[in-house]
Amino acid sequence: MLSVDGQCSTSEALPAKMKSPAISNCQIDNDVLLFYFKLALAALRTALECIYAHKLGLMLSVILVLFVYVIYKSYWSPILYLKELPDVGFNHIPKGANRDMKVARALQTRQVGTKLPPPYPNGWFALAESRDLKIGGVVSVDALGHNFAVYRGEDGVARCVDAYCPHLGANMGVGGTVRGSCIECPFHKWTFNAEGTCVSIPDLDSPPKGISIKTWPTAEGDGAVWVWYDAEGRSPLWSVLSPEEQEEMQGWGYRGRNEFVVSTHIMDIPENGADIAHLSPVHSTSVFTSVANKHPYLLNFVGHHSWEAEWTRREEHRARMTLTHYYKFGKLSIFRLNAIADQNGPGHVRLRFQTRFGPVLFSLSVTPIGVLRQKVVHRVFSPWYNAVMAASFIPMESYMFERDITMWNNKRYISSPIYVKTDKSIRAFRAWYSQFYSEKSVSFKDATQNPLDW
Ligand code: FES
Ligand SMILES: [Fe+2]
Repeated sequence: MLSVDGQCSTSEALPAKMKSPAISNCQIDNDVLLFYFKLALAALRTALECIYAHKLGLMLSVILVLFVYVIYKSYWSPILYLKELPDVGFNHIPKGANRDMKVARALQTRQVGTKLPPPYPNGWFALAESRDLKIGGVVSVDALGHNFAVYRGEDGVARCVDAYCPHLGANMGVGGTVRGSCIECPFHKWTFNAEGTCVSIPDLDSPPKGISIKTWPTAEGDGAVWVWYDAEGRSPLWSVLSPEEQEEMQGWGYRGRNEFVVSTHIMDIPENGADIAHLSPVHSTSVFTSVANKHPYLLNFVGHHSWEAEWTRREEHRARMTLTHYYKFGKLSIFRLNAIADQNGPGHVRLRFQTRFGPVLFSLSVTPIGVLRQKVVHRVFSPWYNAVMAASFIPMESYMFERDITMWNNKRYISSPIYVKTDKSIRAFRAWYSQFYSEKSVSFKDATQNPLDW
């Protein structure tokens, strides 16, 4: 624009941004924002058009990827579902700083009860995963009030010995070396054979007589290395698996496992199988949604689990729980599933589901790693054709099991419960379980003086 004198007006001639920098910058920012917004909209639109145009192909691709993933997890990469002690049963302690301390305090201040049975019953206990203990491998395991060195000889046999070397006390589970069927101490290289006898000491022609370490009866089954613990020092009174159980598993494959640390007395865990009355209150809410926990009237819409069960004592170290599961919507029952849980001694339960597609086995081991600390593992097996079903059961069963853990991690032991009619099998279970304690079983009090708790 020209001024009256014909000159160009300074204010008009300058670019707008020179006139009022604050306002102009804001305008530019808005323009840039608008530009990117429009660009994003255009990209989104193009993407949606592309998806719409190729919807069938994309759907098939997603299904294919999911299918490949499920097959891969079922056959080649077994599921491993791990939870530590503070992870389960402490939802009432809010997340945030010092939560671990608060969980530790909750465990410390909990009343454990009175007249607790001995913490280490007699029987087989799983110490290690068979697949993790390679030939020549040695691991240190603390359980049952003992420190063990578990190793696999070059002959493929798994063995278990007292961890501490009688020479100067080195822990052979930490840095020990396997030589044939022997284990060699890392400190001064003394070597102990499969019977525990010292057979070699460096720079000595032959070791003095009578030097030995304790060897423990060891067996493998259901994917684990088991040690026989007996307070009376007896040889194993039964085997980990019966010949029929071994035979049935021929050709079955490992599908994965879960692992939990639980704070409770060992007996509480198998007792769950005889506690029929807890099934509805603890296990009826759907594994698919916990919404009905807060709004029970929704149970009929989202569905819920329903159980029928019976516990029976069988011969000697065996007991059995039979279980029928339904998923219910109102009066409609679907997904019927039959299961049998065989209890083999104090720390081993074999839960066998019979599904439409074939059997699935959950082998449960409970190992006392302290007077009130249990390591609980479910190892899952199935025939090859049922691998997908077996793998899919692992998260679902783990989720159900976590509900029991919540009870165990917060309860106290009641030596004389108030039994009502529906608790008949709990009383029978305790009578059956008492066979695993013997005269020399370490009392709860004595074990507490020298715990392996952490
Ligand atoms: S401590 Fe084991 S050889 Fe010396
Ligand atoms: Fe349960």
